[in-house]
Amino acid sequence: MKILAIDTSADETSGAITEGFRVLSSTISSQIDSHAKWGGIVPSIARLAHEERIDFVIEETIRKARKYGAKDSKLLDGADIEAVAVTYGPGLSIALEVGIKKAKQLAELWGKKLIAVNHMEGHMYSPYIANSKGNPTRVVSYPFLSLLISGGHTQIILVQNNGKFEIIGESVDDAAGEALDKAAKMLGLGYPGGQIIERLSSEVQNIDKYKFPRPMIHNDDCMMSFSGLKTHLYYLLKGQKGHIIDVEKDLHYLASSFQEAVFGSVISKLSKAITITGVSNIAIGGGVSVNKRLRYLVRSLARKHQGKAIFPPLKYLCGDNASMIGVAAYLQALRGQYVCNFDSIDRVPRLKL
Ligand code: KG4
Ligand code: ZN
Repeated sequence: MKILAIDTSADETSGAITEGFRVLSSTISSQIDSHAKWGGIVPSIARLAHEERIDFVIEETIRKARKYGAKDSKLLDGADIEAVAVTYGPGLSIALEVGIKKAKQLAELWGKKLIAVNHMEGHMYSPYIANSKGNPTRVVSYPFLSLLISGGHTQIILVQNNGKFEIIGESVDDAAGEALDKAAKMLGLGYPGGQIIERLSSEVQNIDKYKFPRPMIHNDDCMMSFSGLKTHLYYLLKGQKGHIIDVEKDLHYLASSFQEAVFGSVISKLSKAITITGVSNIAIGGGVSVNKRLRYLVRSLARKHQGKAIFPPLKYLCGDNASMIGVAAYLQALRGQYVCNFDSIDRVPRLKL
């Protein structure tokens, strides 16, 4: 089943054509440079950029798919596509709108079915995505634990079956990626900060010099909290935690200690989730899942429990992309979940799983 998928939930305008778990074509137009100087995503800039790029992104996606055996010109009028899929939440309201409008237009024009997808369900299945040739071959085996870790979410989910999920734990405040971004900003490292923090940390072998607190770690549940870490960093930088800090000299250690605190909390709660559910196969998705230190820690944890950890096989599948929306849409189609009335679909910025 070939699906044309669209994602405009944040700062990437993205289109993809997928078939089952395979990606036939993918286009991602990132706006990150336009937002970086403001230190975060500016909604009005995002909307304008999505509007400017969406037609090009879709044309490019269709053009590229023709190389991978999709029946040439038939794709151009949608004849070779069975459904159009689009993210309807969670995300930035005015950004989501652009993708939804375009998806409705195309589905109407081509007379195709429309599938409205939860962006997080896309991240959930992103470790199982294959290239156009079907590599890597990963068959989804239920149940598994999904760790969704991005700039907007940090959640541990027990996935029982297609469409059957249960949230086992989540952050009560900032998301892990958001905490890393805020720390990077306080350290004057720029936006988005996750990858800069990763680099600095690896340069000092991830040493945990400052031993930040691990909030909520002793609770019996799998809930997490990261907002206290930035407050701790703030007071540390002001010299109020008993250390006199030379930020420039100690930058690597500050970054590394902060990252260890964030990932330490996540791993401890993931470990609890394994104990509670008895499930030790873990699939990790979301922007932070690209991080090598996190990958090492999750892999070690899974191995300790005779389980396996899998991650999105390509870098672009960690961040926001429409390929994962196409794959989640396929699973939804298997459950028979289509949009019956196109007028009824609207953006849901705070959509939950
Ligand atoms: O999934 P994503 O692209 O967007 C959403 O938040 O939905 O995730 C973006 C987040 C940002 O917080 C960014 O700092 C983080 O992913 N990130 C990383 C790395 N690359 C991106 N965090 C840690 N290490 C990285 N290498
Ligand atoms: Zn995302």
